[in-house]
Amino acid sequence: MRIRPHIELDPGRGLLIGGVPGVKLAEKHGTPLYVYAEDAIRETMREYTSALSDIYPHNTIVYAGKAYLTMRMAQIVQEEGLWLDVSSGGELYLALKANFPAGHIVFHGNNKSAAEIAMAVSSGVGRIAIDNVTELERVQKEAAAQGVIQKVFLRLTPGIDPHTHEYLSTGVIDSKFGIPMHSGQHLDAVRMTLASPNLELMGIHCHIGSQIFDDSPFLLAADIMVDFAAEVRDKLGYVIPELDLGGGLGVRYLETGTDDGIRKHLRSAAKRVAEECLRKGLPTPRLFFEPGRSIVAASAVTLYTVGTVKALPNGCLIAAVDGGMSDNPRPALYGAEYEAVLARPSGDSECLSYRIVGKHCEEGDTLIRSACLPKLSPGDVIGILVSGAYQYAMRSNYNHLPNPAVVHVADGQSFVVVDRETLEDLIAKERPFPHPIRKAGQEAASGS
Ligand code: LLP
Repeated sequence: MRIRPHIELDPGRGLLIGGVPGVKLAEKHGTPLYVYAEDAIRETMREYTSALSDIYPHNTIVYAGKAYLTMRMAQIVQEEGLWLDVSSGGELYLALKANFPAGHIVFHGNNKSAAEIAMAVSSGVGRIAIDNVTELERVQKEAAAQGVIQKVFLRLTPGIDPHTHEYLSTGVIDSKFGIPMHSGQHLDAVRMTLASPNLELMGIHCHIGSQIFDDSPFLLAADIMVDFAAEVRDKLGYVIPELDLGGGLGVRYLETGTDDGIRKHLRSAAKRVAEECLRKGLPTPRLFFEPGRSIVAASAVTLYTVGTVKALPNGCLIAAVDGGMSDNPRPALYGAEYEAVLARPSGDSECLSYRIVGKHCEEGDTLIRSACLPKLSPGDVIGILVSGAYQYAMRSNYNHLPNPAVVHVADGQSFVVVDRETLEDLIAKERPFPHPIRKAGQEAASGS
């Protein structure tokens, strides 16, 4: 039975990820383990890159690397013809090391350091998305110092509430991101950019938030952005050639079923941009979208081994696994919900409700409040579905747990993309203690 694209539950072989049994993957690579089915990633990317080919071909899909970025992933992004959004010097460094073409990178961030700006300009990134006027001046200065003209977007904040988790709403008027569109600052920022000899204003950008299912906030964003493009033309005589509507399309973590969301979402936004431009007499801009979550989330499963199972006096069953909030902070941070499956085949049709907890010293370290699973025993491997976005990306070493390995599956073969951390890795950055160790009760300098 297919439970997600390229993820199946087979009565004889159990959980299959890209056709490879989860139990085998756990045996070979250990757990916890992030496992990505590459075909699922590639198919979703192709859905994105083909969605507008007939109605709005002048479009570019930029994968938001913050959702999941490894050098192998950067290579897939390149092979599938997408651009890459990076949001820090670290992501940019990784992309460049993976030989991702710098000209196809959009560099984001609300507080880029001088060193990050210098790296972006010197490596020739395609667009720097400027977040504020202080940064605008810094990028102009750096581009002048390097004697180049830097192509930029201006990130604007349209003041839209997309009705998602408060931490994921980035386009509201009091957001920390972008130049607010309610103060006239946005027109001033355009004026300043146009007057900056080393900046070329390619486009305006907005990202209203993440995990959004309803099209209407995106359509509203399209209206507001096109309105502003018309205002810029009328007041400043400049036709902005590009429009980036950000990412944010929601992903269903719990339900199976087909999602025609991507095509529908892109087409309705693109149609709205085209209609509004026609109404305002503007040429249609090159249109950018920046999806992250919707490209990778469903393509991955995190495998864990059950260590202990407890039955509480109130009847509640708790299964503790060998990872937790360090490899997936999303439940603790956003109350995110997930679904788990048993990796081995089970003839058991009865399902019990388990609270799946991690091994961290924190009561909030619950991965799933109530997972419906066949009877579990220590040693069983379970897979948490839809684990591909913002999990590996947000991992930590809380309680000094080494980070899991990342494995990709392609053509029926698994291969390691990131090694599992070792205990040695955990102390690799520590310096040797410079003083002799004092025993309790000893004087500090009692060596003589
Ligand atoms: N573009 C920009 C400028 C962004 O800030 C983001 C996400 C995206 C694109 C991609 O959005 P997506 O398509 O993935 O929704 N850690 C949170 C999500 C934070 C999203 C941050 N920005 C989570 O785990 O749900």
